[in-house]
Amino acid sequence: MRRPAADPLAGAADLATPGAWLAFATALLEKAGVALGQVATDAHDEALYLILRTLGLPLESGPAVLRRSLKPEERARLEAVFRRRAVDRVPAAYLTREAWLGPHRFLVDERVIIPRSYFLELIPGALAACLPRGTRVRRAVDVCTGSGCLAILLAHGFPEAQVDACDLSADALDVARVNVREHHLADRVGLFRSDVFDAVPPAAYDLIISNPPYEPSAHVDTQAPEFAAEPRMAHDGGRDGLVIIRKLIHQAANRLAPHGLLAIEVGGLHAAINREFAALRPEWLPTQDGSDCVVVFRAASLTAAGTVTGPRPNASAASRPSTSRSPQAPRSRRAR
Ligand SMILES: C[S@@+](CC[C@H](N)C(=O)[O-])C[C@H]1O[C@@H](n2cnc3c(N)ncnc32)[C@H](O)[C@@H]1O
Repeated sequence: MRRPAADPLAGAADLATPGAWLAFATALLEKAGVALGQVATDAHDEALYLILRTLGLPLESGPAVLRRSLKPEERARLEAVFRRRAVDRVPAAYLTREAWLGPHRFLVDERVIIPRSYFLELIPGALAACLPRGTRVRRAVDVCTGSGCLAILLAHGFPEAQVDACDLSADALDVARVNVREHHLADRVGLFRSDVFDAVPPAAYDLIISNPPYEPSAHVDTQAPEFAAEPRMAHDGGRDGLVIIRKLIHQAANRLAPHGLLAIEVGGLHAAINREFAALRPEWLPTQDGSDCVVVFRAASLTAAGTVTGPRPNASAASRPSTSRSPQAPRSRRAR
């Protein structure tokens, strides 16, 4: 006769301090083999993040918080949260309903991918450095905006810019609308429901950025539960991962000012981009972890080459979602 599996949270209700919870939950997450990279890159930081936010404590809390005594209802809340995370494999950010890019907080839920883009490192400095000296960014657009996080970073980073943002998902745009409002940017960030640029009004942008779906469909089919919990269409870049990227590159030529730039985060498609778009002179921006996975194309190269060198874009071939997306640096380090 098979014995029922032991409850991995047995005894957790007796843990009396956040510090005791931290040790227990770190081991719990490691043993459960949860997938990381959406909020933190190791089990300790993910556990600490969940403890602090479940207790309503700031991420900058010092070590003294780990010694405070927990009330019974706080222990019960922690137990419920870690059960959802370790047993049900719900992503931490969907449990807290928030995600952070640097100092910026965003509402997230199952309607959007959890923000963790390399553009956090590149807006505004590295992108501005690619533009001709003295360029004032007045028009920018974030294609495939999801929660609106990168459009909002653009608006904060380029305070003179009017920013457009588009996504094909009406659900994602509902979340983006809330975030734009909470960042007090409704007068500077316009949202459009659009398949890439199809329904975005014409404009000559100084900057086009995008963190599009870029995973090959077959990878998406095998992703860990945490990544499968994100909208499939946030990951799935079609058969070879390049379907949306091709369409974006093709359409961008007519949307850029003569000095403008198109910057795309492409995950593991570095070699594929260099191969297929060599004639467009791709340039790669360095990132802190050395993945250098953001490519820049200049308007002049796009127009000179007549834009598309590979297969013509085929919007209908795009389908749904995967997960080699960049892990976000954990913010909750101080309370160790
Ligand atoms: C990787 S997510 C990026 C979201 C956000 N920019 C971020 O960095 O967190 C890709 C987004 O592209 C959207 N998307 C997928 N296909 C699209 C298409 N054909 N046109 C516009 N957006 C699309 C998805 O709904 C998803 O929100």
